[in-house]
Amino acid sequence: MIIAVDGPAASGKGTIARALARHYGLPHLDTGLLYRAVAATVLREGLDPAVEADAVAACGFPDALLDDPSLRTDEVGKAASVVSAHPLVRAALLQRQRRFAQQPGGAVLDGRDIGTVIAPDAQVKLFVKATPTIRAQRRHLELRKQGANVSLDKVLADIRARDERDSQRSTAPMRQAEDAAVLDTSFLSIDAAIQRAVALVEERSHDG
Ligand code: DC
Repeated sequence: MIIAVDGPAASGKGTIARALARHYGLPHLDTGLLYRAVAATVLREGLDPAVEADAVAACGFPDALLDDPSLRTDEVGKAASVVSAHPLVRAALLQRQRRFAQQPGGAVLDGRDIGTVIAPDAQVKLFVKATPTIRAQRRHLELRKQGANVSLDKVLADIRARDERDSQRSTAPMRQAEDAAVLDTSFLSIDAAIQRAVALVEERSHDG
């Protein structure tokens, strides 16, 4: 069984994908980390994420980089959104994601284009969303916990800019697959969102 989980930043898709992977005993790939690894490599080398050739040259990063906590920063996230708009970067990362999805026992992948491009034949597709304000509040709380001193308005503006870039790019933009089930986490606790996700997977996987 392939489970595709897509949605915008701070929608809860990562938490839900990890919980589903644990629940069903499936391997999980957070595909955002691949774009983050490219971005981090570009930034480390003092190159420009907006230059396609610079970003493509960074696509051969080692797997070990995916475990590096420094990939999780906002700066890298923003640069990841920029490098991910380059068609050649998406092409360079495609096979890695498809191979992961097509493991014999199945897999859970989360990202922006899993249900539309990476695994269009996935048995289960979820599109996880929440209002921009609620996503900004979640991200703001997380950043405050990490000791960052940033205003809610700034976080909201960043979230809106990222949504805009991820959904307006020409190659594999973030969008809900036609056959995806929508899970709005705006007013759900983490536990309730996970329960709802499991229920949706059960429904979908029994539909055939
Ligand atoms: O999910 P995330 O915040 O770690 O993703 C970082 C950026 O990577 C996101 O802004 C857009 C890009 N991305 C993508 O284009 N396609 C994916 N499948 C996953 C992430």
